[in-house]
Amino acid sequence: MKIPATKPYFPEDDIAFIIEKFQDILHGKSFLSNGQYVAQFEKEFAAFIGTKFAVACNSGTSALELICRALDVSGKEVILPSNTFMATANAILNAGGIPVFADCADNMCLDDLDVIKRITKNTIAIMQVHIGGIVSESTLKLKKICEDRGLYFIEDAAQAHGSSLRKTKAGAFGVAAGFSFFSTKVMTTGEGGMVTTNDEMLVEKMKAMREFGKVKQDIYINYHKYMGYNWRMPEVAALMGLRQLSALESFIKRRNEIAKLYDEELKEVLSVKIIKPESESIHNYFKYIIILKDHDRRIVHKELEARGIQPSGYVYELPLHKQPVFPWAQDLKLPKTEYLSAHHLCLPIFYGMTDQEVKFIAQSLKEILKNNRYD
Ligand SMILES: Cc1ncc(COP(=O)(O)O)c(C=O)c1O
Repeated sequence: MKIPATKPYFPEDDIAFIIEKFQDILHGKSFLSNGQYVAQFEKEFAAFIGTKFAVACNSGTSALELICRALDVSGKEVILPSNTFMATANAILNAGGIPVFADCADNMCLDDLDVIKRITKNTIAIMQVHIGGIVSESTLKLKKICEDRGLYFIEDAAQAHGSSLRKTKAGAFGVAAGFSFFSTKVMTTGEGGMVTTNDEMLVEKMKAMREFGKVKQDIYINYHKYMGYNWRMPEVAALMGLRQLSALESFIKRRNEIAKLYDEELKEVLSVKIIKPESESIHNYFKYIIILKDHDRRIVHKELEARGIQPSGYVYELPLHKQPVFPWAQDLKLPKTEYLSAHHLCLPIFYGMTDQEVKFIAQSLKEILKNNRYD
């Protein structure tokens, strides 16, 4: 049996819809980029998340950079988890900000107590990352800390479409949030991103910035009020996004069924700790994360591959403060981040997986673990 790490899913009706509308665009009926379907996708995405506005762009990285630029983090410190994808730090750096790495808690999301210790007079924002799609309780604590201290609370919700905590969806907690629609995500447009926010001033800035900082001035089209770039979303991506959005709840439902099956299959394996969602939360299960306490995960990874099972990428295998590109951060001690980064593994999870595949993976994992203990 060959099982990939992840696979996108487009129902046949959606494929027909996307092709039909894209054909119209190719026949010249409407514009190819940043047009009517992007506007419709923004409207529907904002309504789904529960914010007043959304601003579409061409990647999750652009979404986060648009936020950092619109909030003007230049010269200021932004606290983020070291356990995140490089794009979170890139967005801050590209906007002229200073990334400050903090430790995570047992669920791999920011540890609010560690964050507090890192706040200085020069801190402008805290950026929570909903790792693997988990919305941590620390989100609420960090939001409160930001409110009390006059800081911006930003969400990197790149992995958390449709996840929520106490009925608030990821993307609706802070001043703004960035989503990714990269090919591996729970909903995808191939490449693409979206900012959600309730702040109209930010929307005006970000809409200008995604088009080279242009604003309309009388007959001028090329009137540049801000520094910007080309971060526009193509219409065909928006068409995919509209259909994926309408299927999102069914995607999350199936991912939860798969996760429940994994939970059941692995519950008696003492050397496996499963990272569970918070109570009163919805987890989109972008990742199904386990911690291997007594095993060399490199061996486990390779043995899974040898059996045709592709583990689904790490979140993340080497934390940012240990990446060679940040020599100034190497001496930082972030013990939980270092432990969890080194010991976790993500099992395949995607909408189209069968129960039989889930059971095969769990059975294979149990056999591999039995034969490969450290001790
Ligand atoms: C946590 C996190 N932040 C940011 C990004 C960047 O998104 P994109 O790849 O769409 O630029 C990703 C996605 O890969 C991510 O997982």
